[in-house]
Amino acid sequence: MGATQHAASGLAQRESGAALRLRGVSKVYDQGRAPVLALDRVSLSVAPGEFVCLIGASGCGKSTLLSIAAGLDDPTGGTVETRSPSGAAKVGLVFQDPALFPWLTVAGNIRLALRAAGVPRADRPRRIAELLTMVRLDGFGDRRPHQLSGGMRQRAAIARTLAQDSDVLLMDEPFAALDAMTRDLMHDELERIWRERALSVLFVTHNVREAVRLGDRVILLSSRPGRVIEEYDVALDRPRRIDSPEVAVPAAEITDRLREEVGRHGD
Ligand SMILES: Nc1ncnc2c1ncn2[C@@H]1O[C@H](COP(=O)(O)OP(=O)(O)OP(=O)(O)O)[C@@H](O)[C@H]1O
Ligand SMILES: [Mg+2]
Repeated sequence: MGATQHAASGLAQRESGAALRLRGVSKVYDQGRAPVLALDRVSLSVAPGEFVCLIGASGCGKSTLLSIAAGLDDPTGGTVETRSPSGAAKVGLVFQDPALFPWLTVAGNIRLALRAAGVPRADRPRRIAELLTMVRLDGFGDRRPHQLSGGMRQRAAIARTLAQDSDVLLMDEPFAALDAMTRDLMHDELERIWRERALSVLFVTHNVREAVRLGDRVILLSSRPGRVIEEYDVALDRPRRIDSPEVAVPAAEITDRLREEVGRHGD
């Protein structure tokens, strides 16, 4: 059996009790002159504790899909369901650009998220310290975002999202702007946090190797309008290295499929 397999086998298991499930989600943007169909009946699910990566050409609707999954935007058609053992799951979104408030310190940004999540004032200092440790930013709580490196800012943004006690973490190309070395470290950190917190993750990236490095499963979207065209199970042991031959082989297979799709549309 190869390192990837088409993902029908685990489907029945994932379908029951998914942490996040989109069914037939479509999105039409119609503010302009001509309506834009951004997503076309997308169905996908993320099982509890599963790490799913979503890949697709620029403009195929990935960010649209995440904002709908996060409840920030409504689908034109279809449904979104989230579930955790205690009911509806809490969903957190990490944006491509770390969206921190520049006038607040790192601790202040996290404190705001804790307050919004209803954490009592007396518990906040301890929670802030825990979250800073989790993203390896001990001692940096009193810094403002502009005093941090890009990787540190992204970790602060992840800490702020984790402060919401999310069960489901949605990430929109969070490491695209980082240098290769920092990005590799962030992969290790994210994998550790994912395991420690038993998170369910939907991670958007342009980078096929990154998807194979991180994902239990990789879902490929078509060019706009985004439709699910392929799913791959990544059957590689962890920890994985992004530059290893084991990761390169499935990445090449997925890249070929992606090229075929982008070529079909000439963009
Ligand atoms: N608010 C909006 N109003 C109108 N059209 C929009 C809006 N947001 C996105 N679109 C359009 O919907 C399509 C999908 O956009 P989206 O940002 O979801 O793509 P994407 O896959 O995230 O792209 P990228 O990889 O470049 O980040 C694009 O054609 C875009 O122009
Ligand atoms: Mg996007």
